[in-house]
Amino acid sequence: MDGGSNAPVESTLSCARCGKPANLQCPKCVELRLPRESAAFCTQDCFKESWSSHKSVHLKLKLSRLAASTPDEQISAALSNGWLYCLKKGQTRTSKLPHFDWTGTLRPYPISSRRVVPASVEKPDWAIDGTPKIEPTSDLQNVVEIKTAEQIERMRETCRIAREVLDAAARVIQPGVTTDEIDDVVHEATIAAGGYPSPLNYYFFPKSCCTSVNEVICHGIPDARKLEDGDIVNVDVTVYYKGVHGDLNETYFVGNVDEASKHLVQCTYECLAKAISIVKPGVRFREVGEVINRHASMSGLSVVKSYCGHGIGELFHCAPNIPHYGRNKAVGVMKAGQTFTIEPMINAGVWRDRSWPDGWTAVTADGKRSAQFEHTLLVTETGVEVLTARLPTSPNVYPWLNP
Ligand code: MF3
Ligand code: CO
Ligand code: CO
Repeated sequence: MDGGSNAPVESTLSCARCGKPANLQCPKCVELRLPRESAAFCTQDCFKESWSSHKSVHLKLKLSRLAASTPDEQISAALSNGWLYCLKKGQTRTSKLPHFDWTGTLRPYPISSRRVVPASVEKPDWAIDGTPKIEPTSDLQNVVEIKTAEQIERMRETCRIAREVLDAAARVIQPGVTTDEIDDVVHEATIAAGGYPSPLNYYFFPKSCCTSVNEVICHGIPDARKLEDGDIVNVDVTVYYKGVHGDLNETYFVGNVDEASKHLVQCTYECLAKAISIVKPGVRFREVGEVINRHASMSGLSVVKSYCGHGIGELFHCAPNIPHYGRNKAVGVMKAGQTFTIEPMINAGVWRDRSWPDGWTAVTADGKRSAQFEHTLLVTETGVEVLTARLPTSPNVYPWLNP
């Protein structure tokens, strides 16, 4: 015994680096709730010297915890890694699944901590504090801007990057992949191109893209849920680069999907294609919704009313507002040099939507599936240029596009 000290009776550990008696623990190991025995150090110096090799312990543990197979295991593994459920516009987090009258079988899962954007990347004005400052009060909420040749050239570049980022996400989609992993691919591909992922911290949205599974209409938050065979998932990417935004989305099949879902996704694709085909100078914005509504209702499907296409450029969302439903009251006619999105959300059941307690996720009121496609468009003198068009390198995921 050591002369009357009150030191707690603990087995003496030996330093993971030099073998001397050790009682320092790596703070990350403590956070991950690793047992004391797994790694201890005698001094800060030994800890620092070991860091480059020791840190792999954390990664391996996280991976093994995330490899958990049942949803309950997946959730407790995520919670034990410090992930939490998102509440109200991303500002609050909780470890308890919120109460809600869920409309379908999908549930929110915990979300990972915020991803970092390098200081060298030019950021929109919400990146730091979550509040857009220029956008809500800009004149461009009321008048539709005619872009200059120079603005159009920047839009082309940004939209092409956004397309390549979406394609990178599409390539990793398969059963077992979490929507958080999709968000990681989007985040890394965006910053690798020198861009900022526009959704990140936009009105406190917590992630770098939206991932909307099954009955989620739009604005789904990437989380710890693994995609399952038979799911459909929409990935919506917006990139900010050289001072302008480029916005697009596609809905993908996860493994083998039932015929009704294939029909829903193909019809939604066609709704967007038909809407794009009427775009040219002189056409009324309200015609877009007529074309989409006609094709969807003819196919036994319904059109979401709460979310619309929008002007885009130096602002993420601005005039014009473009409803996708019929008999809408959109004002104005298309003119060469305008840029906007069309992004129809089409439901297998009722058109009505509800929002989850996170304040973002929009789901169908009846829990049936919803699909969406989005492009950023430029009105030209003779028609339309699809700025976010598929590239020869885009993954071949839609059977109806094969000759
Ligand atoms: N990309 C979406 C759109 O098409 C907007 C997402 S905003 C976010 O308009 F904050 F939810 F990411
Ligand atoms: Co959009
Ligand atoms: Co979008």
